[in-house]
Amino acid sequence: MIASGLSRDSVVLSLGGGVTCDLAGFVAATYMRGIPIVHAPTSLLAMADASIGGKTGVDHPAGKNLIGAFHHPSAVLADTRFLATLPAREYRTGLAEMIKAGIVADAGLFDLMEARAGDLAARDPGLIEELLPRAMAVKVSIVEKDDGESGLRKILNFGHTLGHALELESGYSLTHGEAISIGMVVEAAMAVRLGLLPSEAADRIGRLLERAGLPVRLPPESVPSRVVQLAVTDKKSRRGRVEFVLPAGIGAVAMTGTGPSRWVPETIVSASLEDYCSGG
Ligand SMILES: NC(=O)c1ccc[n+]([C@@H]2O[C@H](COP(=O)([O-])OP(=O)(O)OC[C@H]3O[C@@H](n4cnc5c(N)ncnc54)[C@H](O)[C@@H]3O)[C@@H](O)[C@H]2O)c1
Ligand SMILES: [Zn+2]
Repeated sequence: MIASGLSRDSVVLSLGGGVTCDLAGFVAATYMRGIPIVHAPTSLLAMADASIGGKTGVDHPAGKNLIGAFHHPSAVLADTRFLATLPAREYRTGLAEMIKAGIVADAGLFDLMEARAGDLAARDPGLIEELLPRAMAVKVSIVEKDDGESGLRKILNFGHTLGHALELESGYSLTHGEAISIGMVVEAAMAVRLGLLPSEAADRIGRLLERAGLPVRLPPESVPSRVVQLAVTDKKSRRGRVEFVLPAGIGAVAMTGTGPSRWVPETIVSASLEDYCSGG
């Protein structure tokens, strides 16, 4: 960019999946202390999630989120025609995030996906065109209300505490979407155990994920105690308890006096994971 003589008047256009959004966003955030960026996401996950919210960065072998910057895009141009060539597993990863958006903040979006789950799994382009703006609007509205890592933005982490642990434990043989799908099912079961969520709502969550072609049980080689250990060694834990965001229904997160996250005893986490073991 320096060699090409790009100036403060230049604009970065990112064209690609979430990795591209994160990298191009970081470059735009730091070039001349920040020039505008426009995202043209090409994966469903990048359209529904990674292009929105201003988090940018690059991974380092020492860990995630060590290098990055907040830099909002001037615009996001999500052209769903790109999705025609997206591999099936990548498509389902995006679906998992869209289903999450419905669960945490938009019951109507969840209902629509439920009513047309067959078309959703079959990648009906007209349906995606209709649902994607709603899923994007969920993230936009949450980020607008709380642009920071604290408070409301945490509701986007539903399914992710266990999801990240499962992803890691599988040695990344689970995709992000597959891992958070299982994560959402188990975290919903925890919410039922804690009396926060009616079991019918948890059943609906599991059924929709399954109909979307996503896994709803731990892989056979997965060891629950190892998953718990990974969740516990994550920074979001203290003295035998792990921090979670849990649903109170379809379209709503269970709030505490201080916000959307709560400390859950490891015993509840373990028991819920055991219930979703492939062998059990
Ligand atoms: N900044 C954020 O808020 C945020 C949020 C969620 C995820 N992310 C990041 O996004 C990344 C995941 O995004 P992703 O799932 O898009 O991964 P990705 O960018 O690696 O894309 C997935 C795969 O699909 C390919 N691909 C993308 N678009 C395609 C198309 N139209 N046709 C054919 N192939 C296509 C890519 O080349 C890649 O192989 C992770 O690194 C994650 O950390 C960031
Ligand atoms: Zn995610």
